[in-house]
Amino acid sequence: TIRHKNIANLLHERLPKPVVTILQQMGKVGDDLGEDVYLVGGSVRDLFLRSDHLDIDVVVEGDAIEFARAFAQGRDDLRLRTHKKFNTAKLLFDSGLTMDLATARLEYYMSPAALPVVEHSSVKLDLYRRDFTINTMAVRLNGRQFGLLIDFFEAMRDIKEKVIRVLHNLSFVEDPTRVFRAIRFEQRFGFRIGKLTEALIKNAIKIDAFRRLTGSRLFGELKHILEEESVTPAIERLNEFKLLRVFHPALQLTAKQLELLDQAEETLAWYRLSFIDKPLRRWLLYFLALADGLDEQQMTELCQRLGFAPKLREEITEMRAKALRCVNVLQRRAARPSQTFELLRPLGLEFQLLVMAKTSKDYAKKAVSQYLTTMVRVRPELGGQDLKAMGYLPGPLYKQILDTLLAARLDGQVQTRQDEIDLVENRFGQRKGELSY
Ligand code: CTP
Repeated sequence: TIRHKNIANLLHERLPKPVVTILQQMGKVGDDLGEDVYLVGGSVRDLFLRSDHLDIDVVVEGDAIEFARAFAQGRDDLRLRTHKKFNTAKLLFDSGLTMDLATARLEYYMSPAALPVVEHSSVKLDLYRRDFTINTMAVRLNGRQFGLLIDFFEAMRDIKEKVIRVLHNLSFVEDPTRVFRAIRFEQRFGFRIGKLTEALIKNAIKIDAFRRLTGSRLFGELKHILEEESVTPAIERLNEFKLLRVFHPALQLTAKQLELLDQAEETLAWYRLSFIDKPLRRWLLYFLALADGLDEQQMTELCQRLGFAPKLREEITEMRAKALRCVNVLQRRAARPSQTFELLRPLGLEFQLLVMAKTSKDYAKKAVSQYLTTMVRVRPELGGQDLKAMGYLPGPLYKQILDTLLAARLDGQVQTRQDEIDLVENRFGQRKGELSY
């Protein structure tokens, strides 16, 4: 039995007004073309699960590209991108909203004509091909039926029971990435993977269905997991299912590893509050923490399995080794600020945060936090122009002088401009030039 319930009110309540207007306009275009059009997938699920979702999926029972063109006609608030091969279109609104339109082809569905109208629809087949029941609801957008919720596969029941279920037994064999999606959704929504679904995951693992996944697809899934709000419980789940070894046979979740993941999380919490305005690859920090137990050879293999570009692979091997040395030095005893600076400067942000996560000593953590929040902004007062005026010949010497000044500043050995001049003259000899103030 299919549930029919109008949830137009919920749409109005949950979605920004401009989005509702766009959906209504789509319904209108559907009416004009004589095609049924539905809101589907994650966007319907999230109406009930209350996490905000601004990627909107729409299925048209007709040609999605033609539909998108008809919709875009005469509007100047969007760009249209079409994919002939898959018969899909993407609308990119100036507001930042994106909408994906897919085609549900009627000719795919050869069913006895005796079925009720909705049962007969090709959108049902489209939804049946999806990963989990919770992602299979559709909301009709056409005219008078705007807001009609169509639930062929008991998605509402599973949402109420908080359970992740596949639609059929071959789901993971057809698409092994769904195993990772199951764990991601389970953790994100605080759901539980259903009994049968769990058995099917175990079967996919047994037959090693992941072997044929390309590096980039495998990495895509891992990255999605590492970018979720809560990462460690999902990794623990991967470990329970013995899925970590799909990435590399030596990848394990020991107590030490778990501790480091917790530290990474705390470091990220600190980072968020520090208001450092620098792009951060959150996934990379978790990735480094997760793979911390691997040696260099194994790390290279892991990067290869995940299809990393040579540049990223090199960045990881090089910086990881440097970060490790940095941890060792900072850990031994409290370092001078200038020394901390020297050690941390060559590292990318994620590796600096890795150092912070890996050190157990408070003074070492503090050194990294001071580096990131204050040291990076310290500059000597004197610049190249001043050195020139002091009579020094431009060349590699300038860098040496400026580095010396910076170190002295960091360590509090100079406070004023005059202190800097004195230091330069003491250390590098007096020159006959005049300093212009
Ligand atoms: N889908 C699937 N199998 C996959 C990937 C996706 O069946 N391996 C289906 C899902 O049913 C999903 C839809 O395609 O609802 C869109 O995919 P995606 O945008 O990845 O999923 P969302 O559910 O929107 O997930 P998220 O909230 O993480 O964006």
